[in-house]
Amino acid sequence: MGILRSTKQAKKELEALYAETSKHGQYQTLPDRLADLLGMQFDVNEEWRGDRPRYPFIRDFVTNNGCKSLLDVGANTGFFALSLAGDVPGLDVTACELNKTHARIISLLAEVGGYHISVTDRPADLANAASFGSFDCALHLNILHHAGHDFDSANVPDRGAFKDYAVSYLDRFRGTARRMVFQMGYNWRGDKTLPLVDREDQAGKVRFTQDLFKASGWTVGSVGFARKGDGSSPVGYDVFQTTDLPAADGDLNAWLKSRYGTAVWSEFYQRPLWFCTSV
Ligand SMILES: C[S@@+](CC[C@H](N)C(=O)[O-])C[C@H]1O[C@@H](n2cnc3c(N)ncnc32)[C@H](O)[C@@H]1O
Repeated sequence: MGILRSTKQAKKELEALYAETSKHGQYQTLPDRLADLLGMQFDVNEEWRGDRPRYPFIRDFVTNNGCKSLLDVGANTGFFALSLAGDVPGLDVTACELNKTHARIISLLAEVGGYHISVTDRPADLANAASFGSFDCALHLNILHHAGHDFDSANVPDRGAFKDYAVSYLDRFRGTARRMVFQMGYNWRGDKTLPLVDREDQAGKVRFTQDLFKASGWTVGSVGFARKGDGSSPVGYDVFQTTDLPAADGDLNAWLKSRYGTAVWSEFYQRPLWFCTSV
C-alpha cells in the first residue's frame, strides 16, 4: 500500500519533470523494470542514441572486472546508473548529473526501483575531477566535448583550447576511477559547425581519442564500434582489442566506413566506446 502510493506520487512528479525542456532534454530510456512499475515508457528512438545497444557492453565491463563501485558522470536521467544498480548485486552506484531536474528524476526513479543510488548535481569539471571519491569504474559517456559550454567555460574559451584541456581533465580524472568506459562527441559543445574532427574522418576520431588517452595516462584495453545489420540500422556493437585495428589511417577509415555504412546513422553511433584502465 505504502509502496503503491509512493510510486503513484513519484509518477506524477516524474511526468512533470520529464515535461521540462533543456539542451539535454531528450531523455534516456526507462529500464524495463521501472517502466513496468510505473506503467510508462517513452517513444525512444534507439537509432539515435542507443541506450540499450550500449548497455550490455558497459555491464559486462563492470562485472568482468569485479567492480564494486561506479560513478556515472553526466548520468542524464539515469538509464545506465539505474540499470546497473538493478543488475549488478552489491554495486555501489553514484550518479553525477549537473542538471537539477535530471538529478531529481534519477533520485525518484531509484526510489521507485528500491535502489540505493547516491545522486549529486555537482558538475564534474576540471577543478573537482578528482574529488568525487575513489571508484572502481566510471562511465564518462558523451560529456567531455560539452566542456566550454555545459561546464568549464572559462577553461575552454575556444575550440583550439579543447585538446589540452581534455588531457588535463582526463589526467585528473584518474584520481577518481581506475577504470572507465568513455565516449565522446567530435563536435565541440555539440555544435556541428565546430568540429574537433571532421564528420567523415572516422579514423581521425579514433586517433584523436587515442592521443587524449596516451597523453593523460589512460590505457585502452578495447574499443567498441557500432555494427550495421541487414538493413541500414545499427544493431549493436562489436568490441575489438586496439591492437587488432587496421594500423594505417586509410585502412582504418575504409574499415570503419564499411561498418558504419550510411549517413542514416546518427552521430552517436559514430562515436566509439572506449574501455580503459589507469593502472
Ligand atoms: C549528452 S548527455 C549524455 C548522457 C549519457 N551519459 C549518455 O551517454 O547517454 C549529457 C548529460 O550530462 C550532463 N552533464 C554535462 N556535463 C556534465 C558535467 N560536467 N557533470 C555532470 N553532468 C554533466 C547533462 O546535463 C546531460 O544530462
